[in-house]
Amino acid sequence: MELPFAESYKIKMVEPIHRSTRSERERWIKEAKYNMFNLKSEQVFIDLLTDSGTGAMSDRQWSALMMGDESYAGASSYYNLKSAIQNILGFEHFLPTHQGRAAENVLFSVMVKEGDYIPGNSQFDTTKGHIEFRKAEAVDCTIDEAENTEIYHPFKGNVDPQKLDDFIRTHADRVPFVIITITNNSAGGQPVSMQNLKDARKICDKYGKPLVIDSARFAENAYFIKVREKGYADKTIKEIVREMFSYADAMTMSSKKDAIVNIGGFIAMRSKELWQQCSTFNIMFEGFVTYGGMSGRDMNALAVGLDEGTEFDYLETRIKQVEYLGNRLKDFGIPFQFPAGGHAIFVDANKVLANVPREQFRAQTLAVELYLEAGIRGVEIGALMSDRDPVTREVRMPKLELLRLAIPRRVYTNNHIDVVAVALKNVFDRRMDIKNGLQITWEAPIMRHFTVQLDRAQ
Ligand code: F0G
Repeated sequence: MELPFAESYKIKMVEPIHRSTRSERERWIKEAKYNMFNLKSEQVFIDLLTDSGTGAMSDRQWSALMMGDESYAGASSYYNLKSAIQNILGFEHFLPTHQGRAAENVLFSVMVKEGDYIPGNSQFDTTKGHIEFRKAEAVDCTIDEAENTEIYHPFKGNVDPQKLDDFIRTHADRVPFVIITITNNSAGGQPVSMQNLKDARKICDKYGKPLVIDSARFAENAYFIKVREKGYADKTIKEIVREMFSYADAMTMSSKKDAIVNIGGFIAMRSKELWQQCSTFNIMFEGFVTYGGMSGRDMNALAVGLDEGTEFDYLETRIKQVEYLGNRLKDFGIPFQFPAGGHAIFVDANKVLANVPREQFRAQTLAVELYLEAGIRGVEIGALMSDRDPVTREVRMPKLELLRLAIPRRVYTNNHIDVVAVALKNVFDRRMDIKNGLQITWEAPIMRHFTVQLDRAQ
């Protein structure tokens, strides 16, 4: 008999979590203005709000933490991280930042100016925010297949080379660089193929544009290349990672995802000149160039995390757990962005809550229902997150309304995943009775979903 699959680690430290009653949750979600970000973590049983900064560090990482060097300049922790970035990712220069959006802030302070266009594949909301804040525009050239949650595509996160080429050709002097996000979070944690990175590189070379990779989930992307793309099955994850980044001029990183630390980020680049330009902004916004908003101990843990996060056994455990949730939902007939993503399942709320008017935030309504059902916290990736158009202030209705269930790394067991699947099935079974969604009572001018206040729609 074939042995079943099991995790590539065992548990050394645990943290209690608590169930609650439905009536408690009804009170709490109302007090939270129906915004998941306003819930206290103790009001949540299983927290799938994000996979960012929520992972469990390993014994190796905790011991590296104890060896942190807290010198203001030139700490050994900085050099540990520098050599991990050089060896694993292949970039000569880097700047630490306190997290991913800080990396965007510093890099874009140098590279983005008013009136620019930044083409790529479904830029993440902070990326888009930092572009729009500078009165520039993020242009989404993702392949059309990403908009259809039902069809299978092995690399649904790909940029469409034709769309990218057409856009740059017609706007060449206003495109400072191209940004590719791996994996493509907003399209459902979907990977980008090596071929697609090569194609993007070729287009960038044709027009003399740098290629930047938003790398938050680069290791999960490498796993999908290994298991899905021809010619990569026998390569190690680290070999694949080196090749992926060989096509880029620079990268931004939120270390809170694939580097399995609770806080941190960085920018890495080939050009010394770009490093120098970014250094000024790094010192202004983040901290001196050898710590940039990170403590020495955190840089040490991050250096180890980059190594562990690019090991096949860990990645297989991780991605198979996400796939397990996908398979359970599939068995229940619940529609989600197919195939399962690397870090999350994205439930198709347009299909589940077709009875709720679109203007009443279907994905957010589904998130509230799932919370009420079992104290599970997911996050809306839909009309709330899409924000208003920065110029016209019109509501931007995205094609997809998704409820993202992001799985923290090395945190929950498959028993927790079973609770999530069954809770969602219970909501799915009573979907016809859910007719009213939510309405906004207050919103911020940019990145509104974090702080929005909502009420039940009348
Ligand atoms: N890029 C991508 C693709 C991301 O998913 C995120 C964050 C960032 C950049 C920004 O990094 O949070 O460290 O400042 N994503 C989190 C999420 C918040 O829940 O998907 P950060």
